[in-house]
Amino acid sequence: MADEPGFQLTDTAADRYEHYVAPVMAPFVTAILDAVDLYPGATVLDLACGTGFAARAAAAQVGPTGRVFGADVNEGMLRVAKAHHPRHYPDIEFTTAPADRLPYPDAHFDAVVCQQGAQFFPDLEAALTETARVTRPGGRFAATTWSPTALTSPYMSAQHKIIKEYGGQQAAASFAAAFSCTPDRLTTALHTAGFQEAKAHELAFGITLPPLTEFAPGHLSVLPWAQQILEAEGPTALTEAGRTLATRLTPHAPTFTFTAILATATR
Ligand SMILES: C[S@@+](CC[C@H](N)C(=O)[O-])C[C@H]1O[C@@H](n2cnc3c(N)ncnc32)[C@H](O)[C@@H]1O
Repeated sequence: MADEPGFQLTDTAADRYEHYVAPVMAPFVTAILDAVDLYPGATVLDLACGTGFAARAAAAQVGPTGRVFGADVNEGMLRVAKAHHPRHYPDIEFTTAPADRLPYPDAHFDAVVCQQGAQFFPDLEAALTETARVTRPGGRFAATTWSPTALTSPYMSAQHKIIKEYGGQQAAASFAAAFSCTPDRLTTALHTAGFQEAKAHELAFGITLPPLTEFAPGHLSVLPWAQQILEAEGPTALTEAGRTLATRLTPHAPTFTFTAILATATR
């Protein structure tokens, strides 16, 4: 259904997501928070927070006088997020909510970040309009989405090929759609939503991954498209897909380039 949110994981996959996605997200979490100029005492929303990587890092930056919120539609992700107690004040308030119907008052946030969520919103303009509503005038917004060029990188193109081989054409097309947000698409949608000074550029990090024999199958298994491999071909096929992926990636190991678009704007 076109109006259903994307990137929906089962409960058990959400547990593994936190572990396998952490190394890939880490440098982007730093970049997205730098882009919104957090300060002690700020009130921040992590939109499409998943298991809460950005929310936890934001809590460390805003300190005991700040407030951090996380919103996501996926109950499994939020359960994992709530189980991770932040090492720094403040406590984080995680809420089940779709991006286009947020349960917060107007102008509530000094900053909103959305890491790898915008490309999965069924209606990007509606979600950003709602985000603009809850951001105070002068407040900052930043989002990351995988760049279209990332799909041709060694890591992502190998994942794409494996998903096509084991999950089929439809699963591969859905995977590729997660890389379809361009800088223009994001800045136009931000201006339409009422943000100002929207800018977007590519951001690339060389990330050294853990040993691939374990990491590549584990990471594959926390993508929603792995669910499609499981449903279409069964668990043996997913195991084989993960093993083949590790073998194909090994010649490029251990450092892979991951490229995202960083879009920023001011309310
Ligand atoms: C790739 S995950 C990113 C999670 C997290 N931001 C991170 O950095 O790991 C995408 C997240 O977007 C959420 N999502 C998708 N559509 C959504 C929507 N319409 N409203 C809120 N969250 C949504 C999914 O449930 C999922 O947790």
